[in-house]
Amino acid sequence: MTKVLLEVQGLNRRFGGLTAVSDVSFAVQQGEIFGIIGPNGAGKSTLFNVIAGHLKPSAGKVRFDDHDISGHASDEISRRGIGRTFQSVHVFAKQTVAENLRRAEILARRHNPFAYLARRALSSQADVADVASFVGLTGYLDNEAGGLAYGLQKILGVGMAMMAEPRLLLMDEPAAGLNPSEKRAMGALIRKLREQRGITVLLVEHDMPLVMSSCDRILVINQGKPIALGTPAAVKADPSVIDAYLGEDYEFA
Ligand SMILES: Nc1ncnc2c1ncn2[C@@H]1O[C@H](COP(=O)(O)OP(=O)(O)O)[C@@H](O)[C@H]1O
Ligand SMILES: [Mg+2]
Repeated sequence: MTKVLLEVQGLNRRFGGLTAVSDVSFAVQQGEIFGIIGPNGAGKSTLFNVIAGHLKPSAGKVRFDDHDISGHASDEISRRGIGRTFQSVHVFAKQTVAENLRRAEILARRHNPFAYLARRALSSQADVADVASFVGLTGYLDNEAGGLAYGLQKILGVGMAMMAEPRLLLMDEPAAGLNPSEKRAMGALIRKLREQRGITVLLVEHDMPLVMSSCDRILVINQGKPIALGTPAAVKADPSVIDAYLGEDYEFA
């Protein structure tokens, strides 16, 4: 049985005269890996910021798990179960991997001890050892985060987001800056989040092999507007997508 976990309806976000997100609508099923692609400046990060409550919508609605969360505060949205990872690394460089994970957990708990503990009692425990093992950082728990390879710092960012036990994870360019083998590891981790933890993923990413191999469906936006929505195969064959983003001679690995 499928259930719509996230529903975005007619969403707009303006900055002065610029409409960064323009009448965007889509629905994400629970358990889906849902890609959002488009050229730089298309409005992808702004869309994430509105969903996560870091920016208020100018118009439109965001519904999560049957609740209207449009314009709600980011900490409330986070405790409802929406987590995110960032394009740039957000670790505390001078602290160990274990301390970073613990700190992420404390932040999540501070947002709402009640909801957090209730959810925790129902779900698998996201403790430090469990998350470290899940993301493959058990051997690095005592290492300073700033000394890890860049790819591992981004993996740690995913682990930190997991400490809040999100049901929906917004991932903004998780493969940016990674080398090919790190990209493959990140792709495997994203699929494992869904397969082993049932986490629904909203994935913004420019790495087409990663997007095409991981996503169930993809929304393409250009200048704030949706131009295509469908399976990877449908989207990469869509002339308007090739025009706006992929280019004629795009080769998919
Ligand atoms: N806080 C802001 N203030 C003004 N303009 C912004 C702000 N954030 C983003 N924009 C503009 O909105 C558009 C979409 O940006 P963004 O959402 O970052 O695109 P993407 O993530 O797809 O590259 C761009 O033209 C960008 O310059
Ligand atoms: Mg962006």
